[in-house]
Amino acid sequence: MTLWGGRFASGPSELLRRFNDSFAFDRELFDADVRGSVAWARALADANALTAEECAAIVEGLEALAAPGADDDFEDIHSYVEAKLRERVGALAGKLHTGRSRNDQVATDLKLWLKEACNEALQSIDAVSKSLVRRAVEEVATPMPGYTHLKQAEPITFGHWCLAYVEMLARDAARLADAARRNDECPLGSGALSGTPIAIDREALAKSLGFARATANSLDSVSDRDFAAEYLFAAAMLLSHLSRLAEDLIFFTSDEVAFAELPDAMATGSSRMPQKKNPDVLELVRGHAGRAIGELTGLLALLKGLPLAYDKDLQLDKEPLFRTRLTLAAALPALAALLDGLQLDRARMRDAASRDLLLATTLTDAIAANGVPFREAHELVGNAMRDRTPLQSLAEKHGVTFSVDEALAKRSAKGGTSPLRVKEAAEARA
Ligand code: ARG
Repeated sequence: MTLWGGRFASGPSELLRRFNDSFAFDRELFDADVRGSVAWARALADANALTAEECAAIVEGLEALAAPGADDDFEDIHSYVEAKLRERVGALAGKLHTGRSRNDQVATDLKLWLKEACNEALQSIDAVSKSLVRRAVEEVATPMPGYTHLKQAEPITFGHWCLAYVEMLARDAARLADAARRNDECPLGSGALSGTPIAIDREALAKSLGFARATANSLDSVSDRDFAAEYLFAAAMLLSHLSRLAEDLIFFTSDEVAFAELPDAMATGSSRMPQKKNPDVLELVRGHAGRAIGELTGLLALLKGLPLAYDKDLQLDKEPLFRTRLTLAAALPALAALLDGLQLDRARMRDAASRDLLLATTLTDAIAANGVPFREAHELVGNAMRDRTPLQSLAEKHGVTFSVDEALAKRSAKGGTSPLRVKEAAEARA
């Protein structure tokens, strides 16, 4: 049974149903739909549109509903909830939709759902961040090569590398929290588009659902999906950061570089090549970042031309959100576990960070500190590199010393990689 049969002489065709129904995915909104419906029933009673007894029966019926089973078949989750309520309370179920539309209902459901999705994402970001901070504390003084253009550049510490991602994750968390703040307005009571004719106290209704306030404009309320796009952007940015982290770790754990080894429990093997230990988790994080960007651009394209107010295109807002939440919920804990188990080859990292290629800048600085103009010192060291003269002999010629530890210690201005600064920064984030 549909929620809109009266105007139609025949029922919907199977072809229409296959294309139009959203139940296959919006069943995910069951909890939110029940919560919103309970709050709406109470608001109707407060406005004298339901008697106290009617309200109590409806609320009791709603709270007893079971989530949809595999065999249930409805147009959407709203039809399911109303039909199941009817099985419990009879024709009274038909009073619940007084003054309400599926348009304000679905927007409310989705915003309720998104609050939880944001909180869940914030928690998983925190887990990844904590695991990076723990590592940073342990590895404040562990040298490794730093790269620009993926060419060996200057030594850094592994702790410094960890904390770079901690900074990105802190901004990602702030973005999600900010999106959650803007999402914190309740559309319920906006009706189909023009508002509800029932004297609903929308502020009280919003508060009863845990929202900070009611939305200000009914047309905007039923057509706004900024909140969905903002979540998808925050998720796409987050996954893009984690994709860079994944890429770094794929490089660090490659057989050529081998600064680190993946924990067995977080690596995969090959069915053909017995020697392989593959970074599938990291590659999937990188792949999912691409997909998340697609989810965001897909939703933006869907939204850009829609005339006010509700349009059915908006039904397609949900799957990108659902998929993205599942991705974050699977990817971030896996990444945190991988980071926790990552084994470093500190001797190899130190050796690599001590090569002339990585210390050329430090030697240039040391020669310049002796009074040689920096440009000249740059030229001298550059020439030595070109001639493959070991830098040690150049240093001796100029009576200066240079080493990886000196190079690190010197980068002691705020934000630099000196072990002291990294220790401070790690402790500030711990
Ligand atoms: N399944 C619909 C959606 O997700 C619910 C709202 C239907 N409203 C309507 N006017 N057809 O958007």
